[in-house]
This record gives sequence, structure tokens and C-alpha cells, in this order.
Amino acid sequence: MPTTRRAWLAASACLVLLQGAAHAADTSPAQQLERFSAQAATSGQAERGRVFFTSRQGGEWSCASCHGNPPTRPGKHASTGKPIDPMAPAANPHAFTDTAKVDKWFRRNCKDVLQRECSAAEKADVLAYLVALKP
Ligand code: HEC
Repeated sequence: MPTTRRAWLAASACLVLLQGAAHAADTSPAQQLERFSAQAATSGQAERGRVFFTSRQGGEWSCASCHGNPPTRPGKHASTGKPIDPMAPAANPHAFTDTAKVDKWFRRNCKDVLQRECSAAEKADVLAYLVALKP
């Protein structure tokens, strides 16, 4: 194989690896709090987030039904019983480090709990609550 082609292949392999790493950790809890606060045009409030997270919203479950109260320890899925990693960043370094994962689960879980998507203000409140939790 000509050297230039080999070098090019090695370079693109590196790029793919880098992209993989970036996807696994492309954000931080603080950035997610900022993102939702900016979308909501108001800053998240931890106490409002705590009440939202621990209260049922007309359905069978609250966020805490699966994520625990407080979510500094592993949660347990309310219907399957599967363990869920702690949601509080202080107890889980992987929490809120992947934007696609954050969006996917907010969408899914809010539908389960509220029968609708959460508003940006609700997400900002939940983030403010979670980032303030101590292990
Ligand atoms: C029926 C169980 C269940 C309920 C109720 C639930 N969740 Fe979840 N949630 C999960 C599971 C399972 C995951 C994925 C955990 C994993 O893969 O690490 C998750 C993950 C998440 C994540 C991704 C966290 C991250 O680190 O990226 C967010 C955000 C989230 N949930 C928000 C909520 C909110 C807000 C509520 C309440 C409105 C809620 N969840 C209620 C089961 C639930």
C-alpha cells in the first residue's frame, strides 16, 4: 500500500475514534442546565425542581419512582425492577454527559410521567435540583 494511502487511513481511523469519544461525553451537567435555562429564558430553580421530581403529575409515577428520592443512589425501574445509575452528577460522573441521551430520556420519561414532553423550564428546574445534590 502506498505510504500516503496508509497515512490517510490511519488519520481517518483516528478521526472515527475521536468522534466516538466526543459522542460519549459531549456535554456536562452545567452545560445542560445552561442549555435549558437559555431555552426557557429563565434560570432553573432547585426547589421547584425537587418538588417536580418527587411528585406525581396525574399519573402513576413520579421521576423519583424510578430514579429514587433523593437520586444520589442507584434507582430501580418501577416496572421492570432493573437498576438505574444515580442521576445526581455528584454520585455519577457519567450523568448528563451525552446530549443525545439526555434528550432521549427526557422525552421518554416525561411522556411516561406527564403524558407530554417536559417544558424547557421544567428541565432547567430538574437540572438545578440535581446539580445541587451532594453525594
Ligand atoms: C419508568 C421508569 C422511569 C421514570 C418514571 C423516569 N425515568 Fe428517567 N430514566 C429511566 C431509565 C431506565 C433511564 C436510563 C438510565 C441509563 O441508561 O443510565 C433514565 C434516564 C433519564 C435521563 C438521562 C440522564 C443522563 O444522565 O443523561 C433523564 C434526563 C431522565 N431520566 C429524566 C427523568 C425525569 C425528568 C423523570 C420524571 C418526569 C423521569 N426521568 C422518570 C427511567 C425512568
